[in-house]
This record gives sequence, C-alpha cells and structure tokens, in this order.
Amino acid sequence: MTLTVVPTGETLGATVKDIDLSAPLAQEDFGEILLALGHFGVLRFPDQNLDARALKQFSERFGGLQVSLSGMYTDPEVREVMILSNIVEDGKPIGLADAGQDWHTDMSYNAVIGFVNVLHGVKVPRRNGEPLGATEFANMRAAYEDLPSDLKERLAGMTVTHDFNKFWENMRSREGSRRPPLTEEQRRRRPPAVHPIFLTHPITGEKVLYANPGYAERINELDEEESRETLAFLFEHQLKPKYRYTHRWTEGDVLVWDHIGTLHNAVADYGPDEHRLMKRCQVYADRIFDPAFVKAALSASAAHP
Ligand code: SIN
Repeated sequence: MTLTVVPTGETLGATVKDIDLSAPLAQEDFGEILLALGHFGVLRFPDQNLDARALKQFSERFGGLQVSLSGMYTDPEVREVMILSNIVEDGKPIGLADAGQDWHTDMSYNAVIGFVNVLHGVKVPRRNGEPLGATEFANMRAAYEDLPSDLKERLAGMTVTHDFNKFWENMRSREGSRRPPLTEEQRRRRPPAVHPIFLTHPITGEKVLYANPGYAERINELDEEESRETLAFLFEHQLKPKYRYTHRWTEGDVLVWDHIGTLHNAVADYGPDEHRLMKRCQVYADRIFDPAFVKAALSASAAHP
C-alpha cells in the first residue's frame, strides 16, 4: 500500500495523498480508498491530471457508469464523462452550467441508486485570490444518528419515492435556465423510483438517512399531509450546520464522494466570466451492495498493512 489518508477533522472529508489516479490502481489501494470513503464520505485526491479515458477507468472501479439522459455535454469520445461548466465558446455552452446547484443526492431517482460521483476540477473560478464554486456536503450518518428515537422507530421500514423531474423542474424554474422540459421519452427513461427511507451503508454497516430535498417526493406509507410535514422536518434537520462540510476546489483535485451517506450542493457564487470547468462520472451502486465485492477489496487492503 502506497497511499496516505489525512482526515479533515470535520464531519466529513479526507485527503488521499501519494497516489496517481491515471496509473492502474492496485486492489489493496482500492480497498483502502473504499474504507476511507465509508468513514469520511468525501475524498480529495490532489494534483491529478486525468484525461477522459483515465477518469472513466478510475471511476469504473466503483461500479457501472451512468450516461447523461439528454446525451448533451458529454466528452466527445467518452460519453460517460460529463462536462459541467459555465464556459461559452462561439456562443455555445461547452457544459451543463447549473448542475447540482441545490441540495440533492445524485441518482436517488434510479432503481439502482448512485454509489459515488467522481469530479475532476479542471478550472476553478477565483475572486481576489479566493476560490469560488465550492461543493458543500452533509453527513447523513450523523443526521440519522441524531433523529429522535420515536421518529426513527416510526419511519423504520417506510419508503420514499424519488423523482428526477423534481430537481429538473426546480432548475428550470430559475431565471435564465436553458433547460427544456423533459420529453415524454426522457420521463419514460427516468421514471420515479422507491427506496427505503433508512439504508444500511454497505461499507460501514451504519444506518443513514436516505431522503434528499432534490429528488425525494413522498413518504409512501404516510398520507399526503403527514408525508409533506415529515419530509419538511427531515430536510431541515439534515442540513443543520453541524452536519456540513465544504470542499473548496484547487485545479487538479479529483473528488470522490459517497452518495449513500451524503447530500451535496454546488455553490453558484461565481459570475459568467468567472470560469468553472469540472469533468464528472456518476457511478451506480451496482457492485457495492454485493458483500463479496466489499470483502475482496477490504481484505486485499488488510493484507498489505
Ligand atoms: C454534482 O452535483 O454532481 C456537481 C457538483 C459540483 O459541480 O460541485
């Protein structure tokens, strides 16, 4: 094992040093990364330089990759790599400008939920030398832990419906949005999905609150009003400052975060001439709930102390 994990000391986050993600990743290093991801939720790999193929290759270690619904703003050669950017070239946006600009959990709207996002910071906007366009996170293990025990008991076994269109319409309603409404065909390809309100994290075995304001529409076992009130309570609770961590970007950062145990929000505090460029892979949780996958990775890392 070569890498070093340095925790931020905050509710989430660690920096992983001494690793070049463009090189093949040894199984024991992958195991260390999985373990750190379970514990710290958000991992920063500084000083990386990945082309689209290398970003895809690294991301695929965690699971299968989602392809953008519209097919727009993807890398011309690697369609699993999406471009998030406010840069306009020859009158045309080169990327999706408003991706993730509110609290949410990517892919909770899928039947197979998301495991991680892998985001590579290529251009970071700055004002007076300070980086803008941070990504904020919230810790859903801690949020679950602190829920009143009668609420935990009452909600245990209940399910939530998540809908891709909820976040899409929220973004569309914002001034200057370039998003068209989803077509019938796109709605058909991304139908709502139902998941337990509490999940057991596949790496740590801890319970997490799995309902996010971006996509969670309804607690299915409650009547409409109770569902609305309970979700409003949970959304307020899960975003308390004590559960939050902010990642301020440096060019060359690769950030990997755990969707099962966190929410996130892309902070839109920069102007049109302050350029931000990120490259992203979204990874399904199609392997991480397989105990054999986790065991193989973790035992490889344990064998190389
Ligand atoms: C995302 O929500 O996947 C993007 C986050 C960001 O650009 O900071």
